[in-house]
Amino acid sequence: MKPPIPYRPARLSETEVCSRARQTFLDLDQRRSVRAFRPDPIPQQVIADLIRAASTAPSGAHRQPWRFVAVSDPSVKARIRLAAEAEERENYGGRMPPDWREALEPIGTSWQKPYLEVAPWLVVAFAENYSLDPDGSRRKNYYVRESVGIACGLFIAAVHQAGLATLTHTPSPLRFLNEILGRPGNEQPMILFPVGYPAEDAMVPDLRRKALEDVAVWFTGSGRG
Ligand SMILES: Cc1cc2nc3c(=O)[nH]c(=O)nc-3n(C[C@H](O)[C@H](O)[C@H](O)COP(=O)(O)O)c2cc1C
Repeated sequence: MKPPIPYRPARLSETEVCSRARQTFLDLDQRRSVRAFRPDPIPQQVIADLIRAASTAPSGAHRQPWRFVAVSDPSVKARIRLAAEAEERENYGGRMPPDWREALEPIGTSWQKPYLEVAPWLVVAFAENYSLDPDGSRRKNYYVRESVGIACGLFIAAVHQAGLATLTHTPSPLRFLNEILGRPGNEQPMILFPVGYPAEDAMVPDLRRKALEDVAVWFTGSGRG
């Protein structure tokens, strides 16, 4: 094991911490899942930095069990759209249980996914269920779904912070992405992120986020809940 190295970020004042925490919340509260994009190109360098930001995520045993595959080629995006819509047509046409369809009703989604071709980039997050060493032997990964979920959360936040938009898209099942993107069997597609500027006329569902008291518990240790 290598010896530890110092970690000495600046110690901020409480006022500064309060202000940054509030600002972070206010910034992230502006984020919305977007389903209509401008076709305007975005430099590959930007996508590279967003993937770098995602890849700063903590991970079980530091295995970093994620792979982000980025696509801007129109013909590949068209194939992905076609395959995603084929799965979603089945889902919306009856494969989805009624309670799920009901839950999706306020979001107003359908099997049609034109944004998969319009957005300048598609970034697919794959989870490495196990890693393959150069000699072909398998290396176990730990807390894979948690780790990839956190990396995807950072990716979403980074996209937003950069002034762009994305959608957490999960046409199910997603295995067609292994075939189209030539990824090996140990990699499981988790989320398909279209990335771009939101369309000028983009509309989003009028959703409310839960209030603090519905998501936070200030446990004092007294009494029985
Ligand atoms: C794991 C996960 C899967 C999702 N899958 C889809 C999807 O396949 N299609 C879609 O339109 N939205 C999908 N969403 C987006 C949610 O509908 C959206 O996050 C939610 O309605 C809240 O809206 P907001 O992101 O604008 O706050 C998904 C979100 C998550 C976290």
